[in-house]
Amino acid sequence: MSELRTVTLGMLGCGTVGQNVLHLLQRREAIFADLGVRLEVAGVLVRDLTRPRDVPEGISLTNDPRFLNRCGLVIEVMGGVDRPLELLLPILQSDRPVVTANKALLAERWDVLREHALDGRLYYESAVMAGTPIIGPMSTVLRASGFVGLQAVLNGTCSYILSQMEQGKPYQAALSEAQALGYAEDPPTLDVGGFDTAHKLAVLARFCADGHFPYSAVSVTGIEQVTLEDIAQARAEGQKIRLVATLERQGDTWKARVAPTRLPLDHPICTVGDGRNAMVYEGEECGTLVFAGGGAGGMVTASAIVGDIMDSVLGFPGHVPLH
Ligand SMILES: NC(=O)c1ccc[n+]([C@@H]2O[C@H](COP(=O)([O-])OP(=O)(O)OC[C@H]3O[C@@H](n4cnc5c(N)ncnc54)[C@H](OP(=O)(O)O)[C@@H]3O)[C@@H](O)[C@H]2O)c1
Repeated sequence: MSELRTVTLGMLGCGTVGQNVLHLLQRREAIFADLGVRLEVAGVLVRDLTRPRDVPEGISLTNDPRFLNRCGLVIEVMGGVDRPLELLLPILQSDRPVVTANKALLAERWDVLREHALDGRLYYESAVMAGTPIIGPMSTVLRASGFVGLQAVLNGTCSYILSQMEQGKPYQAALSEAQALGYAEDPPTLDVGGFDTAHKLAVLARFCADGHFPYSAVSVTGIEQVTLEDIAQARAEGQKIRLVATLERQGDTWKARVAPTRLPLDHPICTVGDGRNAMVYEGEECGTLVFAGGGAGGMVTASAIVGDIMDSVLGFPGHVPLH
């Protein structure tokens, strides 16, 4: 057997997603060996070294990012915008690949990241719809078809709250329940205010509408003002309310909108089930495509991240937006 090439990894963050990435990398060791690679984790950056974590034996946790200098590939699963950017820029600027699940970073700092994405150094399948592959097809095969528009539900927390309201729970009670179950952050503004969905829509728009699409161009209305009366009225007309991301042509430009939207009960977004994300993608030649699957969760997200790492070690470029 020929000798394996060692790829030295570094990871930023070791929370819900990061811990699962480490376990999945270990579980897929044989596949990486088939690809001719042995992975070595040089370090994992965290804030609180005393926090108990479920990580494979031998993983070195640290709050000192200097280990990044030794890494050939960096995985970012810490969240936030400014700090991850500060840590990742030297990696990207020295031509090293980065795998990230961070849609807020991608949406809000595209001015800096775009050139690296165009050069194929940035992998981010997990940033939208987590383990459900949508960025891969949108950055490759779907380019052959003229883009007409898309509609998607991209935030499971909002779907959960709205489905609880359909059972008669007022908004505040449904939100508190989502928080108690760990579905919604505290404060929950990113989710219920629609901003998480808007981050994801901005990321998608750069593959099919405009490679420069700015996050600030997404119009955002959250679900905070949806009432039980709205839900009852929709139901009386055979509809459900969901937080829907829409991208469609308006004259010569593209309009991106996130807003509570009524959908017929037999709409593909409604029929996939509330625990799932879903997207209806319309292309001139490919027709109507429906993508659906888990849009959150540690291992679901880790599956896309580890897939990105496989692509990178195989020499496939990252996710290249429109020029
Ligand atoms: N959770 C999901 O289902 C999901 C799905 C798709 C994408 N994502 C994205 O994946 C990323 C991570 O999500 P998560 O749910 O795993 O978050 P999380 O559980 O909150 O974990 C974040 C990790 O990053 C570390 N961290 C945060 N700020 C840091 C800093 N300034 N310096 C050093 N370490 C820092 C934390 O350290 P401590 O543990 O020491 O606090 C923690 O280990 C986010 O960008 C999120 O949007 C998550």
